[in-house]
Amino acid sequence: MPDGGVPATIGGVIEQLTVDDLDACLDLAQDRDWPPERHKWRLLFDIGTVYGIRDAAGRVIATTVLTSYQGGLAAISMVLVAKDHERQGLGRALMVHAIGEAGAATVVLNATEYGRPLYERLGFVSVGSTFTHVGHFTGPGGHASRPATPDDLDAIHRLDTEVNGADRAILIDRLSGFAAQVRTVEGKAGITGYAAAWPNHGNTVIGPVMAGSVAEARALIADVAAGVDGPVRLDLDGRHPELHAWAVKRGLELRTSTAVMARGGPLPGDRGRWFVPMMQALG
Ligand SMILES: CC(C)(COP(=O)(O)OP(=O)(O)OC[C@H]1O[C@@H](n2cnc3c(N)ncnc32)[C@H](O)[C@@H]1OP(=O)(O)O)[C@@H](O)C(=O)NCCC(=O)NCCS
Repeated sequence: MPDGGVPATIGGVIEQLTVDDLDACLDLAQDRDWPPERHKWRLLFDIGTVYGIRDAAGRVIATTVLTSYQGGLAAISMVLVAKDHERQGLGRALMVHAIGEAGAATVVLNATEYGRPLYERLGFVSVGSTFTHVGHFTGPGGHASRPATPDDLDAIHRLDTEVNGADRAILIDRLSGFAAQVRTVEGKAGITGYAAAWPNHGNTVIGPVMAGSVAEARALIADVAAGVDGPVRLDLDGRHPELHAWAVKRGLELRTSTAVMARGGPLPGDRGRWFVPMMQALG
């Protein structure tokens, strides 16, 4: 057993993976027809804990990522089991381990149809939905926002903390390095919304988007999208249905939807101002 490894309930040993395993994680993702999202995995290795199980030959055959924020909120993501090892209890064992490591925190995740029955059995309940739109954004920006400067980061951090009900300093600190764009909207009392866009495999992801109103969210999304060359992906929260038709009209087709699930309590914060996650993996 590797140092610090924990026996999984069925086969294998759960261990903490390092960024040296990044390529192995990308191989596993592709085995499950997920894209090889290197930039995203690199961030997850940086701010989260990546748990994995190897087969006897050392190949990574299962992963789960736990990212914990200050203030009792954590996100679980990248729950993946190799096709040739599924239905042997590995997914469940990794989930049980990650939930244990999250302690008393409320845990949030986005569930595919494959994962949902497993999560329900582990005590997760559905608290919303995420709708993934992809396409070439058409039409002009809203010109209501401006690029963020380093001086805005404290205000962005405060806004993000209010809306999420948890301190995500680990994300905000990395935003300017990770994202290609960060924009803000301002009212009389200061910054009321912010949005970012970051490069992913084959598209640019717009997220997070936090805003004081639907109109503000639309303006932020349009301004960020206007600065993107190529297809964008927008994971719209289900709380704001009026944005879905607008996104379709602006060229972003609806591709899939996933269930937002939580365990250990409802999602904290002021979720009415929460429009788009940074990425489904992080909330
Ligand atoms: C979802 C996934 C992680 C489950 O891993 P696993 O190791 O096969 O899961 P377990 O063996 O621990 O089984 C747990 C439960 O998951 C569900 N499950 C697993 N594979 C399933 C499948 N092919 N179809 C439907 N349900 C499935 C079942 O409810 C299963 O319990 P059961 O076998 O007692 O009925 C795996 O199928 C996978 O990687 N899928 C593709 C990626 C994905 O969608 N991940 C979830 C992201 S939210």
